[in-house]
Amino acid sequence: VSYEFKTGHQDIVTESDKGSEKIILGRIRNQYPTHGILSEESPPHESSSGYRWVIDPIDGTTNFAHGIPLFTISMALEFEGSPVVGIVYDPMRDEMFASAKGFGSKLNDRVLSVTSSSSLENSVLSAGYPYDEDKLDEFLEALKLVFPKSRGLRRLGSTALCLAYVSAGRLDGYWGQGVYRWDISAGILLVEEAGGKISDLSGGQAADYKTTILSSNGKIHDELLNLVGV
Ligand code: IPD
Ligand code: CA
Ligand code: CA
Repeated sequence: VSYEFKTGHQDIVTESDKGSEKIILGRIRNQYPTHGILSEESPPHESSSGYRWVIDPIDGTTNFAHGIPLFTISMALEFEGSPVVGIVYDPMRDEMFASAKGFGSKLNDRVLSVTSSSSLENSVLSAGYPYDEDKLDEFLEALKLVFPKSRGLRRLGSTALCLAYVSAGRLDGYWGQGVYRWDISAGILLVEEAGGKISDLSGGQAADYKTTILSSNGKIHDELLNLVGV
């Protein structure tokens, strides 16, 4: 896979990121010309309709470019800033994680619910760190605290996939620094509609643009926040 550099040697974009975005944006512009769009590889399109599509055409580009089959397409429709529909699609497994506000979350035809584990001891977690942030010490400190307390710690390389896995009960929790709205909008709805909890790393609401995120089954949220919170 050939790629170009964006902000540095870790931050790459492939022809497929752009191709995926082109297909998705073409369809949205065609069907919903009055809606706004925020998509990673294009300038934002503002609108006064209240509706905004938030898209990551490939989440997990590094995995994709290196042949690791863990990457997703993430799309959310937000109304007045909150996601009302969200999908995270894993094309390698043909797994469609989908949710709609008030209607729950599904993986293909199966209704999803978060895990019931109530302590970190029984929890498998995942963590994300971006290419464009200068808080590595903070992140390593959090890993050091969580690792021995949990059953296992992963770094899957796709924030959207991790959030989908929290909603599906495959992970008990996930946290990430320096995430953008397109990484998390669909995943936030998936987790909430599957009965889980979302906050930022100071326990407040995840911000609109660049933010931190903590997602969990709800039961381990405070225990995890105590260790990774900033
Ligand atoms: C990245 C992935 C990664 C996360 C980064 C994101 P990209 O998205 O979600 O897991 O740690 O913060 O930027 O660049 O592959 O779309
Ligand atoms: Ca992303
Ligand atoms: Ca991306």
